[in-house]
Amino acid sequence: MEKLRHIIKTQQFDREFLDLIFFKASNIKSETKSEKKFKYDWQPEYSFSDSLKGKILISLFYEESTRTRFSFESAMIRLGGNVIGTEAAKLFSSVVKGESLEDTIRIVDDYGHVIILRHSEDGAAERAAKYSKVPIINAGDGKGQHPSQTLLDLYTIQEEIGKIDRTRVAMIGDLENGRTVRSLAYSLSKFDGVELIFVSPDHLRMRNDIKEHLREHNIKFSELISLDEVLPNVDIVYMTRLQKERMSDEEYITAKGRYIINEPKLQLMNKNARLMHPLPKVEEIVISPEVEESDKRIAYFRQAENGLYIRMALLEYLLKDG
Ligand code: NCD
Repeated sequence: MEKLRHIIKTQQFDREFLDLIFFKASNIKSETKSEKKFKYDWQPEYSFSDSLKGKILISLFYEESTRTRFSFESAMIRLGGNVIGTEAAKLFSSVVKGESLEDTIRIVDDYGHVIILRHSEDGAAERAAKYSKVPIINAGDGKGQHPSQTLLDLYTIQEEIGKIDRTRVAMIGDLENGRTVRSLAYSLSKFDGVELIFVSPDHLRMRNDIKEHLREHNIKFSELISLDEVLPNVDIVYMTRLQKERMSDEEYITAKGRYIINEPKLQLMNKNARLMHPLPKVEEIVISPEVEESDKRIAYFRQAENGLYIRMALLEYLLKDG
């Protein structure tokens, strides 16, 4: 496959690309872990720690973020590069003076080597990529997509379950507005025998573009409303937050509290299944920190950690490799 220049949506990913990123991320992860362990008395022969020396990452965040921005920035610094940017582009960039996204991109692309863009409008990353001289990574565009999240989600499924083919994945919550589940659903169509179960309030169902895509790719999916029916029968429970900021108060009130994973619900899950969540989790997961630490089925903190290794692999892929 031709090398990807921009990372905009998960339809761009094929199995070869995913294997390459996962292979790189695994190497980086094991090296990072062993470096920690042997910090003072052992140096690995190969070190990724300066592979992006002299490169600059630009964080351009028009919406709030914790994991995505910190992990991209940490990834760049760990690879020997530098970081500039704003986590509040709506407040502290020329947007306040009325500058368009296209203009901002045509300015900042001279100042760095990759732009991590989070924006509240669907399609913003695609628009930016048209005008950018450097790679754009879509770090979330409104209700659109979040492709680097999907990379870490798939990597986590592979690592935790041992495979992605033939897994049964339940996506729960706000499937209409959640960009993580949209991106993940698209990408799962690349795998064999995957089955998807969508569980959501009626007014927050997975949109038709995804369902059509799944039908075209012969991916089995169903839409259910009962959590108790679904939980015992899947490998992955992928929980999501109600995207309050993307819906009316009425829509929010109708959906609030509808789907909650608490400790009794957790007990309904298969013993080898995993509970994932892109985070931040708010009221849809009610599990004590003690249980979170002790029940191996709870994977969302390991999932977030994987974001670091995946983003290191992705930055190396875009900026270093041939
Ligand atoms: C998600 C996002 O921004 O889409 N967060 C993240 O990057 N892990 C999920 C969310 O905000 O609900």
